[in-house]
Amino acid sequence: MRRPFIAANWKMNKTIPETKGFVNEFILAVKDVASTDIVIAPPFTSLSTASELIRGTGIKLAAQDVFYEEKGAFTGEISPVMLLDSGCSYVIIGHSERRQYFGESDEIINKKIKASRKNALGVIFCIGESLEQREAGKTFDVLKQEIENGLRDVVMENIVIAYEPIWAIGTGRTASPEQAQEAHAYIRSRLRVLYGNKSEEICIIYGGSATPENIDSLMACPDVDGALVGGASLKPESFTRIVRFRKAEGK
Ligand code: 13P
Repeated sequence: MRRPFIAANWKMNKTIPETKGFVNEFILAVKDVASTDIVIAPPFTSLSTASELIRGTGIKLAAQDVFYEEKGAFTGEISPVMLLDSGCSYVIIGHSERRQYFGESDEIINKKIKASRKNALGVIFCIGESLEQREAGKTFDVLKQEIENGLRDVVMENIVIAYEPIWAIGTGRTASPEQAQEAHAYIRSRLRVLYGNKSEEICIIYGGSATPENIDSLMACPDVDGALVGGASLKPESFTRIVRFRKAEGK
């Protein structure tokens, strides 16, 4: 049985006081939620503050990126050990915004995943196709390539896969439950090739304009195990409603 996994990706939003305001309110709103893994990914500057505030709650902390070297002359970069030090249990790797704006290749992403796992940091590994690729019928090819390259020589443990179709990110144009299920089932079939029966235990979460309005129907899909939420995670009340999604019969 896979536990639902719902994560907030705040991207480049929230100062330290804003983080405090959100976390204090959110902790109270979800304190009785026991059956879902809840993760928040603030910007680097708010990690330590958030870590202190969530101590003793079930909420976990993620960073939005990491560098693959352990330490040294890499101005501006942050290592897996530094993230553990700041209270993180997870790191988001391979987000399409990092691929697009910061030139991250599959090879760099693979190095980041390996460095994180070597240091026992959990990974939220993002993949997904652009609109152009979808319209050209290349969605499965793109997903296959990103999975194979990103996970090359990676032992499958404490890794969550986030399917984030680029055309759905920040656009209000969510993938339909059918589109999400189709992609997630395909991703699981590729994971089965790499990892055998273990693929059944891997959480595959959806990201791209997930909201309180569409979360219940997305979570009803058999292979959608959670969500990675951008815009709708910035307000405690909307993220709380997403964390408190309504379970479908039989799931
Ligand atoms: P939105 O929920 O704002 O579309 O962002 C999704 C995302 O990129 C999460 O990582």
